[in-house]
Amino acid sequence: MKLQRILLLLGTSITIASLGISGCTTNTRDFEADAQTPTVTSPTTTAQRRPDVPYVPTPQPVVDAMLQLAQVNSNDVIYDLGSGDGRIPITAAQRYGARGVGIDINPERVQEANANLQKSGVGNRIEFRQQDLFQTDLSNASVVTLYLLPDVNLKLRPKLLQELRPGTRIVSHAFDMGEWKPQQVQQVNGSTIYLWVVPENVPQNLRQ
Ligand SMILES: C[S@@+](CC[C@H](N)C(=O)[O-])C[C@H]1O[C@@H](n2cnc3c(N)ncnc32)[C@H](O)[C@@H]1O
Repeated sequence: MKLQRILLLLGTSITIASLGISGCTTNTRDFEADAQTPTVTSPTTTAQRRPDVPYVPTPQPVVDAMLQLAQVNSNDVIYDLGSGDGRIPITAAQRYGARGVGIDINPERVQEANANLQKSGVGNRIEFRQQDLFQTDLSNASVVTLYLLPDVNLKLRPKLLQELRPGTRIVSHAFDMGEWKPQQVQQVNGSTIYLWVVPENVPQNLRQ
């Protein structure tokens, strides 16, 4: 089951039990690991706190549609904020020759993404960092992908609009950005995906 359905069932309270019942690919053990404060440290660690969102991967057909919606190409630098097993930036490099950065706060996810990257054949184009997405400098991105939660998208919105260059595309799986209306919305295999393009002049009401 997707994050969205979990939310509908339980409001904004996502419990370990809900993920277990839902049959999503994250089992209870994984989520417990996600929910704990990470204990592994590395030179790139900038955060040691609980993830804001549990790990639920985007199905591959939805990944493909997100990259198409953003019109990713070989000039792009794609940032996946909360990158999980790394499938979005890895696919962007394999299909479109893009470069990319995956950010995940959970060291297990970064390890998994790096293992997938090793097998992918695009290891020279992608980098995974164990970081808090709220502490990450986004200014190099030309495309940003998200599969977070509604309140996390809203909290992130001012940072996106402040740090990203005008023309940067943002694609979100399942969740919108409140008052910031998307330029396009698509349905893919029962999922909704949203596209925004960062404007030259950001309206005052979207800055907070
Ligand atoms: C729903 S999963 C999406 C994974 C991947 N983007 C995809 O679509 O397949 C959300 C991911 O965000 C990560 N995450 C949660 N809070 C985070 C934070 N503050 N900074 C970085 N990553 C975070 C989780 O560890 C998890 O891997």
